[in-house]
Amino acid sequence: MATTNPAGLVRPIAVIGGTGPAGMGLALRWARAGETVIIGSRNEERAQQTAAAIQRRAGPDAIVSGMENAAACAAADILMLTVPFEGQATLLKELKPAMTAGSILIDATVPLAASVGGRASRTLGVWQGSAAQQAAELVPKEVSVVAAFHNVSADMLNGDAPLDCDVIVCSNDADASQLTRELAAKIPGVRALDGGPLQNARIVEQITALLIGMNIRYKGHAGVRITGLPPTAYR
Ligand SMILES: NC(=O)c1ccc[n+]([C@@H]2O[C@H](COP(=O)([O-])OP(=O)(O)OC[C@H]3O[C@@H](n4cnc5c(N)ncnc54)[C@H](OP(=O)(O)O)[C@@H]3O)[C@@H](O)[C@H]2O)c1
Repeated sequence: MATTNPAGLVRPIAVIGGTGPAGMGLALRWARAGETVIIGSRNEERAQQTAAAIQRRAGPDAIVSGMENAAACAAADILMLTVPFEGQATLLKELKPAMTAGSILIDATVPLAASVGGRASRTLGVWQGSAAQQAAELVPKEVSVVAAFHNVSADMLNGDAPLDCDVIVCSNDADASQLTRELAAKIPGVRALDGGPLQNARIVEQITALLIGMNIRYKGHAGVRITGLPPTAYR
């Protein structure tokens, strides 16, 4: 079932930077779950090719299209940002005029040191505290920023098996956090948890660097599971 607004209209999800492994994997899982997905790219043709590839895998009932990033932003009010840290700020400044008031921007950016030629198992300091907080400074004030999906393996998302991980969601907007948790829970095997305010994104982003180090060490696809909370905590 697609996510709808109070008027019953379908709310498409625009995956900005959706041609990379993280965006493609999320798009695939949401398309399979019945969401309407728009792949965004700096290049319209690449977006459309990626959308066609996801459509083939998700099946004939899936609704997936491809657009240049700004057009994708303008066509949706749920925006999933999956670009590398080095491109995040410039891209958000470019896309700001295309974002509509009331939109939700879900940010998965991890400020990896690889962005500046360093190691993927280390992070950079971000002045605002986290990449997600940087994003919040750059979008219109009527756009709510949510931090999520940092600790999910793109390799696992792009497979067919259920995942074995939790998604920690941080936001200062309770409704946007809840909607993001509902979207996360549509991915088989994923449980979504309220990780508190957006400033906690700094902790969640850092965990990814730890997971990448473990993946290198053990040659795996590590994720996190949070235990010991009441069943009602998990969506
Ligand atoms: N890979 C994972 O397992 C994983 C897991 C969790 C979170 N993340 C985070 O999710 C984000 C995306 O990860 P990824 O592995 O999919 O990244 P990626 O393949 O490096 O980049 C994703 C897409 O972003 C666009 N892009 C690249 N450089 C850009 C720039 N300078 N400005 C604007 N757009 C640019 C490209 O699309 P176009 O060229 O088509 O525009 C590219 O296909 C990263 O911040 C990463 O830390 C990744």
